[in-house]
Amino acid sequence: MEAYRLLRLFFLVVCVFSHTLVSCNIPSYVEKYFDQRLDHFNFVSHGDKTFKQRYLVQDQWWSQGKGPIFFYTGNEGPITAFWNATGFVFDIAPQFGALVVFAEHRYYGKSLPFGSSTFEPQNMGLLTVEQALGDYAMLIKYLKQTLNASNCPVITFGGSYGGMLSAYMRFKYPNFVTGSIAASAPINLLTNTVDRSFFFSAVTKDFSEATPQCEPKVRQAFDVLMNMASQGTPGLKQISETFKLCKPLSNNDDFYHLLGWIRNSFTFLAMLDYPYPAQFMGKLPAYPVKVACKYMEDSTDVVTGLAKAAGLYYNGTDGELQCYDIFTEFVACADQTGCGVGPDSLAWDFQACTEIHLVPGSNNITDMFPKMPWTDDMRNDYCYKKWKVIPRDDWSEAEFWGRDIGTATNIVFSNGDLDPWRGGGVLKSIGSSIQAITINGGAHHLDLRGQNPFDPISVIAAREVEKQNIRKWINS
Ligand SMILES: *[C@@H]1O[C@H](CO)[C@@H](O)[C@H](O)[C@H]1NC(C)=O
Ligand SMILES: *[C@@H]1O[C@H](CO)[C@@H](O)[C@H](O)[C@H]1NC(C)=O
Ligand SMILES: *[C@@H]1O[C@H](CO)[C@@H](O)[C@H](O)[C@H]1NC(C)=O
Ligand SMILES: *[C@@H]1O[C@H](CO)[C@@H](O)[C@H](O)[C@H]1NC(C)=O
Repeated sequence: MEAYRLLRLFFLVVCVFSHTLVSCNIPSYVEKYFDQRLDHFNFVSHGDKTFKQRYLVQDQWWSQGKGPIFFYTGNEGPITAFWNATGFVFDIAPQFGALVVFAEHRYYGKSLPFGSSTFEPQNMGLLTVEQALGDYAMLIKYLKQTLNASNCPVITFGGSYGGMLSAYMRFKYPNFVTGSIAASAPINLLTNTVDRSFFFSAVTKDFSEATPQCEPKVRQAFDVLMNMASQGTPGLKQISETFKLCKPLSNNDDFYHLLGWIRNSFTFLAMLDYPYPAQFMGKLPAYPVKVACKYMEDSTDVVTGLAKAAGLYYNGTDGELQCYDIFTEFVACADQTGCGVGPDSLAWDFQACTEIHLVPGSNNITDMFPKMPWTDDMRNDYCYKKWKVIPRDDWSEAEFWGRDIGTATNIVFSNGDLDPWRGGGVLKSIGSSIQAITINGGAHHLDLRGQNPFDPISVIAAREVEKQNIRKWINS
């Protein structure tokens, strides 16, 4: 046993330092497609039309017909990306004899209801949280039937928006879902009573706590940058060179986009502030916030430092970019924390314009970023122009319970204290069966990642609590 542990530790260390970082610990899967009903809530408009919903399955650990189903409720991206970043599920599946299923969210990845015209505004109406939850319920029902798994308990897992979905599955479909792990799930955003201005100040806090001079340097750099931009064409030219932009900035709108691109980088560095290197757009180093801060502090010229710090997210530590194409690397949208890129960013923009009310912009008071406001009025105007929709927050609060979740049971809500989303999360346990845990030194859903020799003790403890709860739910 001890020898096995040592061997495993050795293997993990090799993984961490090897260049095939992401692939070495990830199990394979079988990719499948389910004929999913287009519209669960309307008997008229789409009849019984279906689309192909992708899901991934691994049954090598399953105690067939007896073991639980671990069901990842896919969020705003291709499901393969979540498969790659959710090693916790694979680490514990053998102990539980579990079947592992990862389901893709409609309108993301390969699960496009209308093929290449999916993102035309008139085709977006079927992108709702309710429809996605309905998809997961019908897929679970189908799997239980076809796999002779009618007595197998289902545990949902998810992180971030996927964590919200994981909790909602337990709220809405307790007939199918025995318990839920909801990691870094800011469900309190969907209430009208929450102060949602926590986000950019939490990002700022991560940087100010990383090194003593970091926050003042960043503020100073933005000041100098604004001054340069106010000089018109020569200033913009100089900024474009310092930031190594592929296409020089030609006006103030471009400059504003650059500011968004910078802020987006800092946002992701804070979210992904893991204690070991991890693969995202580029390969990020361990504790990337600290690395970005060092870039800021070590540069004699603050703007050069800012450019280097911002580039860390897009180019990683060993990237291949010759220059930065800020319009493909960052897309401005209804989510001030970023919508991602490519077609997925359109789907998330639509969700941020309808049911998912996110956070306001930065203000240069409680946060270190330039003032880039995003008010409810701006959101309403943008969403109507872009998608011909108007957000309906009172519906979200009614439909997804708001803060009043005391009648739910069997959910673990976890949040890391480094995670800027924490302010929207459930931070206090409710009764004995809704348990909230804080992961000190943890960034965005660190607990869902596979075990790693650099894991802080807090995340090891959090995973233990999650395992104990799953065990309890399954046994009762
Ligand atoms: C997931 O990991 C595999 C193996 O490393 C890689 O080939 C694939 O591109 C990754 N997928 C995503 C979406 O990140
Ligand atoms: C489910 O049970 C039926 C009846 O016993 C059997 O014919 C079928 O092969 C089983 N399916 C699976 C996937 O085990
Ligand atoms: C991206 O990283 C590589 C490798 O570190 C470096 O050579 C290149 O200059 C970087 N690109 C930019 C635009 O800074
Ligand atoms: C932020 O606010 C301070 C204090 O009002 C001001 O001096 C500074 O120029 C502002 N910075 C930016 C980047 O707007």
